[in-house]
Amino acid sequence: MYSVDTHDLIFPYLLRRVTEKAALASYNWIGRGNKEGGDKAAVDSMRKSLTEIKLNGTVVIGEGEKDQAPQLYNGEVFGDENAEDHLDIAVDPVEGTTYLAGGQTNAMAVIATAPRGTMFDPGPAFYMEKFAAPAETRGKIDMEWPTEKKLQTVATLIEKDLADLTVFVLDKPRHRSLIEEIHNAGARVTLYPAGDVAGALMAAIPDTEVDVLMGTGGTPEGIISACAIRAMGGEFLGRIDPQLATEIVSVRNVGLETDRWYDRDELISSNDVHFCATGNTSGLLFSGVKLTKHHLRTETLIVTGASKEKVSLTNWHNR
Ligand code: FBP
Repeated sequence: MYSVDTHDLIFPYLLRRVTEKAALASYNWIGRGNKEGGDKAAVDSMRKSLTEIKLNGTVVIGEGEKDQAPQLYNGEVFGDENAEDHLDIAVDPVEGTTYLAGGQTNAMAVIATAPRGTMFDPGPAFYMEKFAAPAETRGKIDMEWPTEKKLQTVATLIEKDLADLTVFVLDKPRHRSLIEEIHNAGARVTLYPAGDVAGALMAAIPDTEVDVLMGTGGTPEGIISACAIRAMGGEFLGRIDPQLATEIVSVRNVGLETDRWYDRDELISSNDVHFCATGNTSGLLFSGVKLTKHHLRTETLIVTGASKEKVSLTNWHNR
């Protein structure tokens, strides 16, 4: 119906309503100590918005399964399944539910879309080891290298001293030796209890407080990060890294490889990616929902793969 350019202008503007509304829906749950309440409000809102914007797509990457949280489930279809423009959809209605419940930084509502069949289906894999870094490093870091060599190479490629390189790592016991290796290499570690989509995005975006993301986090969050980073440019690699006993068995049963690193373009095989993220609570990327006398203000990052545009949108919603 539209030329490609017109579609790329209009579609992200519609899609951002999905994350804006989800962030608004979970606003009342910030700092109330109830992860499920905020998640459910955002999930319900996203489901409604996806119907309202008349999108044709199937949820390939849903979120919540590992915590038995309310979720937009994998395989959930919106619109016409046979439509030519049917999309793969990846959602995380609240990325960082513990942040939201604890009123901490970095919680956000996230969605990515891409042409049908272009998003990697991780099946029963809940956990993925990830590496994200700026565009200059794309294709130049060998995951077999020791940590020090990887970080030294990133530092050289982005023209920074290794001592000034900051690596985002989730603050989890499983990362004890990784953190030691980063310290021994002479780089800095910035530890966060949750929210590695924000970490991956910051690693890919030049001149933020983060240069590299390393370590293991959720697989859905990994695919979503790969989508955003393919859309805006940057390096992302992921290795299936099951942590739970049941997960190890089911990953083995479906034949998923755990000893190989998937390239960004295997995780998302199209440039025609759209990504939107709206802040719930203020964080490193953007401000969270802010209540004023007459408005609720949101900040949204909109990334369009075809044009590589990154747009930051502030919206004042009437109360
Ligand atoms: P939730 O949105 O489900 O709370 O997940 C947040 C998160 O920290 C992700 O950013 C990260 O990828 C994953 O959880 C790590 O999982 P775990 O806390 O189980 O190690």
